[in-house]
Amino acid sequence: MTTILETKDLSKTYGEVKAVDHVTLAVGEGALFGLLGPNGSGKTTMIRMLTGQTRPTGGTATVLGLDVVQNPVKVREKVGIIPEQETPPSFLTAMEYLDFVGAIRNIPDVTKRADWWFDFLDFGDKKDVLCKDLSRGTRQKLMFAQAFIHEPALALIDEPLINFDPIMQDVVKEYLSGYVKSGRTIFISTHILEVAEEICSGFAILHKGKLLHTGPVAELTGRNEHLSDFFLSLVRKDRHA
Ligand SMILES: Nc1ncnc2c1ncn2[C@@H]1O[C@H](COP(=O)(O)OP(=O)(O)O)[C@@H](O)[C@H]1O
Ligand SMILES: [Mg+2]
Repeated sequence: MTTILETKDLSKTYGEVKAVDHVTLAVGEGALFGLLGPNGSGKTTMIRMLTGQTRPTGGTATVLGLDVVQNPVKVREKVGIIPEQETPPSFLTAMEYLDFVGAIRNIPDVTKRADWWFDFLDFGDKKDVLCKDLSRGTRQKLMFAQAFIHEPALALIDEPLINFDPIMQDVVKEYLSGYVKSGRTIFISTHILEVAEEICSGFAILHKGKLLHTGPVAELTGRNEHLSDFFLSLVRKDRHA
């Protein structure tokens, strides 16, 4: 299977803090890969390094065959990204923002694609509203649309479900599951272990920057173990180690 994303001893330190500590993992084409871990375990730092937004202090990472340190701009061109807690520019309307993304990404039929997203995530009535006046949930819909509007081969999405109600979570979960069926790949960080168990094919558990486990979800289901139980026992063990 083709490897779409690969890290070797990837590390990032902030002073004394080892935000990401020698993480080695690989994600294959067509995976819906979940990056799991408690608060502060390094998930956001991982995604920021993998998308060329912050430089590693050690190790290497390759995304779609590109080294993220040597080609950060190319990486960002190719992938879709939902950064953690980032909001669209306050001074643009929802439609203007997607137009802007379309211009940067050279999407010729951006209006048509945008309309599909307004309809799909049920926020067409907010098209001409300034982003600063949108609710958090609606801003998150817009961030979702901008990440997927060019149908990237790989999307890296950081806690994308957090501001969605259960109905919208369901819509998005189905979209993500369908998205990878055509061979495209998703790397998602999430707190919501039930969601990860339901939709992810593979996962990794980070704790205090260290990789505690990586493997297929089917391995757990095969032995009748819930991801949340597995996660809690690993993290608790590590906490007391
Ligand atoms: N820009 C930064 N400067 C200093 N410390 C940071 C910075 N970003 C993250 N950290 C620290 O790195 C650790 C991992 O953070 P983060 O990657 O945000 O974890 P998560 O997304 O899993 O909650 C935390 O201890 C956090 O305080
Ligand atoms: Mg985070």
